[in-house]
Amino acid sequence: MYKNKNISNFNLYSLIRDNIRKINPYLSARLENKRKENFIFLDANENSFGSTISCINSYNRYPDPLQMELKKKISELKKIPVSNIFLGNGSDEIIDLIYRIFSIPEIDNCIICPPTYGMYEIIGNIHGIRIIKIPLIKEIFQLDLKNINNVINKYSKIIFICSPNNPTGNNIKKKDIEYIITRYSGIVVIDEAYIDFSEEKSFTSKINKYPNLIVLQTLSKSWGLAGIRIGIGIASKYIIEFMNKIKYPYNINILSQEIAINALDNKDLFFFNLKNILLERKYMENSLNKISVVQKVYPSDSNFILVKIYNSSYKLYKYLIEKKIIVRDRNKIELCNNCLRITIGTHEENKYLVDNIKKFDNKYKI
Ligand SMILES: Cc1ncc(COP(=O)(O)O)c(C=O)c1O
Repeated sequence: MYKNKNISNFNLYSLIRDNIRKINPYLSARLENKRKENFIFLDANENSFGSTISCINSYNRYPDPLQMELKKKISELKKIPVSNIFLGNGSDEIIDLIYRIFSIPEIDNCIICPPTYGMYEIIGNIHGIRIIKIPLIKEIFQLDLKNINNVINKYSKIIFICSPNNPTGNNIKKKDIEYIITRYSGIVVIDEAYIDFSEEKSFTSKINKYPNLIVLQTLSKSWGLAGIRIGIGIASKYIIEFMNKIKYPYNINILSQEIAINALDNKDLFFFNLKNILLERKYMENSLNKISVVQKVYPSDSNFILVKIYNSSYKLYKYLIEKKIIVRDRNKIELCNNCLRITIGTHEENKYLVDNIKKFDNKYKI
């Protein structure tokens, strides 16, 4: 492995692309002067007559570029200082910024461990970064440390580790992740989009210990806010500063900020829904395991499960569509031959799904 034997020698600045280090960021009007009561704001070419919509709120002003009110809420919730938090238009925006900050197109490479979240590869391709794939170990879906060690070179600027992993659903072993963070001199991104569904502790408490660590979380999953697009990046304040420097000035709109602030107060509902999703996950695991067409239900630490089907997952997938149920056929994905990825739904939805898989099973008994 391209080693950084002593993590305290880690030099963040040497990893940051030259052009990014030198950039003189755009100073938006709202960054220069925050909105205050009793001031007349004629600095941002907004429409002082108001919005052309008939509702109580007016959206004629630009949003807070640094989303301070929302960040304070997230900071309290996750016990992380505001200076260590970045908010993106979904986690995908943050993945994009990480590539922009740390890797040089046509020169650098990035390590990913398939099967995993598809956007690491796609965004890397968009940036002209070579993607090196080191598949997870078959069936147990854990990191192949030996092969990762073998391929890493001085051009490997980023490694993405998704834990719990999508589409396999399982946690990646903590000690393996730590092995990589402490030996590798590039940036380690741990995508914890599904962490709230897991009993494993988040890596966010380690951002001060490991300066090369970036943790991604999102409000899209456990908080049920996929529609408003809020991704969370947690890292050293130096990394966060670079993200703020190069992001688009008003990357999170006012509506999303308002809705997220409101939602984060509904902790009771959050825990209620979380508890139900976990109960339903158990119900799904138990029920699916009893159906003979199901070859394997992989253990899940997420809000979905990966299920291996005897014969053809595609046939079952098509059958379910006829019954108006959409699941994700992952058959063509590496190591997921004949697998369906099934999101945990409400009890009625899950029961309807299970009943229909049973009907399929009876119809095409093997
Ligand atoms: C592992 C993982 N990371 C990130 C995302 C995207 O999150 P966001 O909605 O915040 O862009 C997903 C979405 O499915 C995901 O599975």
